[in-house]
Amino acid sequence: MKILGIETSCDETAAAVVEDGVRILSNEIASQVEIHARYGGIVPEVASRQHILAIIPILKQVMAEASWGDLDGIAATIGPGLAGSLLIGVNVAKAIALARGLPITGVNHLEGHIYANWLVDHSPGVTPLFPLVCLIVSGGHSDLVLMRGHGDYVVLGRTRDDAAGEAFDKAARTLDLGYPGGPAIQEAAKNGAASLQLPRAWLKGTSDFSFSGVKTALLRLVERGMVSSRADAAASFQEAVVDVLVTKTVAVAKECRVKQILLAGGVASNELLRNWLVKNSPIPVLIPQPVLCTDNAAMIAACGYYRFQAGKIDGLDLDVVPSLKLA
Ligand code: KG4
Ligand code: ZN
Repeated sequence: MKILGIETSCDETAAAVVEDGVRILSNEIASQVEIHARYGGIVPEVASRQHILAIIPILKQVMAEASWGDLDGIAATIGPGLAGSLLIGVNVAKAIALARGLPITGVNHLEGHIYANWLVDHSPGVTPLFPLVCLIVSGGHSDLVLMRGHGDYVVLGRTRDDAAGEAFDKAARTLDLGYPGGPAIQEAAKNGAASLQLPRAWLKGTSDFSFSGVKTALLRLVERGMVSSRADAAASFQEAVVDVLVTKTVAVAKECRVKQILLAGGVASNELLRNWLVKNSPIPVLIPQPVLCTDNAAMIAACGYYRFQAGKIDGLDLDVVPSLKLA
């Protein structure tokens, strides 16, 4: 079964064709990062206009490597995300579904991030096994989710303030490292040592996260002129965030006696997070390749495949849900 996935929830216009939820036949992304970088963050109106310009060229590119006649269905991100951006992808998906007589399914972007793990590798033992715990860390979310089967989620913890990616972006702004902040902090940290004392919000007795304290602590140190090396500050900040993410994820996975831990979302491309989680977890860990952690449409197509398998077909009245939740 070949599914065309379309993703336009934020600042990447992406399309992909995935076979049986696991094999990527084509996967293209038009990034708007350079356009938004001059504003230091995403400008929603600019994002939707860019999606309008990019969506048809991206679809042409993706379909140059696949065949329209071979498609069995279309999956499009309906939320969470920017309303204007989501609308472009969903309306294009509906137009194709109508013109080609194909079924359509609306995908939750966060669920899509989780399904990037089905695109990892297909040798025995490395596909996801239920029950599992997934840490979804992106620009807008930091969620710890128990997944008991396809489409079956229990949110065990979430951030009470900033998401992990948002904290990386704000810390990078504090340190004048540019946008997007996650990759910038990771690069700067390579030349530094985690020598600054930054707080960790453990929120004991819960699986929730909080990153606004560490972000503000860094800002105060900079304001007081106590940061002499941006590389050391970046390394210290990265370590503080990763320490909490890894410790709480491993703890909840042990508590729930799951078979695997999955990592997902843009922050999952962070090398320290990937390495520390693997090193500190007695439970097997699966992590998608970095390019499948950040926003892409292959993950949406993979998730769409399992939705179609479960009979979750939407009508042409499918609409965007900007504040969509996982469960
Ligand atoms: O999943 P994603 O591409 O978009 C959302 O759904 O939000 O995640 C984007 C976030 C940004 O905050 C970005 O700074 C962060 O992921 N990110 C990283 C890294 N690469 C991207 N954070 C830390 N380390 C990285 N290498
Ligand atoms: Zn995302």
